[in-house]
Amino acid sequence: MKLAVSGKGGVGKTTLVAAMAAELAARGRRVLAIDADPAAGLAPTLGLASDLRIVPISEMHDLIEERTGARPGTSGGMFRMNPRVSDIPDTCAVSHPGIRGLRLMVMGTVKKGGGGCACPENVLLRALVQHLVLFGDEDLIMDMEAGIEHLGRATAGAVDRLVVVVEPGRRSVETAFRIRELAADITLVKVAAVANKIRDEEDRRFLEKAMEKIPMLGYIPYDDAVSRADIRGIAPFFASPVLCREVAGIVDQIINEKV
Ligand SMILES: Nc1ncnc2c1ncn2[C@@H]1O[C@H](COP(=O)(O)OP(=O)(O)O)[C@@H](O)[C@H]1O
Ligand SMILES: [Mg+2]
Repeated sequence: MKLAVSGKGGVGKTTLVAAMAAELAARGRRVLAIDADPAAGLAPTLGLASDLRIVPISEMHDLIEERTGARPGTSGGMFRMNPRVSDIPDTCAVSHPGIRGLRLMVMGTVKKGGGGCACPENVLLRALVQHLVLFGDEDLIMDMEAGIEHLGRATAGAVDRLVVVVEPGRRSVETAFRIRELAADITLVKVAAVANKIRDEEDRRFLEKAMEKIPMLGYIPYDDAVSRADIRGIAPFFASPVLCREVAGIVDQIINEKV
């Protein structure tokens, strides 16, 4: 399955992506988790030691230059809009030492210049995402910021689901609807939501009502074990059975195309 996960900052995207990736790998599937959020945090949330520095693709200047014909930071030159990327996952993804079948790739930040997104880094990143969505043969799960920048018109339709994470709070709901609109613009139709940090019935009812028009995949309770795992630097899915149980249900629903 190919999933993109989006939502307001702090709602739990990275927590969900890590837990879903671990759940899929535990089911014996091959999984590529992609950190496409400039506020990269997927590696530690997957329990990869903080001293393990994974070089983001956007910082691989030699690679970018070799493939696009232009060096990041240079402007005005010509570069290839269709760089070769098919070998990049195998050379640049990092295998998780503790979870069989799970690999991680960190995209990194693209400094936005006056010229918008037409810089060599972005061209390469976008080509890479498009390649993975269209031709990758493993499960793909992308941790994206509140936008859906890397999903172009050509590839969006190949994503099985855009999963929007919400928490009990109006701003996260507003962000979810804005993301859905962006998705509709690129004819990405299958949007579903996951509610996170649910403390009680009132939280649940608030989101049920507010999210009425977007199918819900699940409600993950607020669990101190999750936030404490973050503080202790361990993967939340190793610390919270509640998180794992709910995520297993969410994965089931997506696999069985229920929502
Ligand atoms: N279900 C939950 N219960 C308690 N804390 C949570 C839960 N989900 C996420 N958190 C905490 O909320 C913070 C933000 O989560 P994170 O996954 O990094 O969000 P995002 O990637 O959307 O910015 C982290 O400190 C995380 O531990
Ligand atoms: Mg995050």
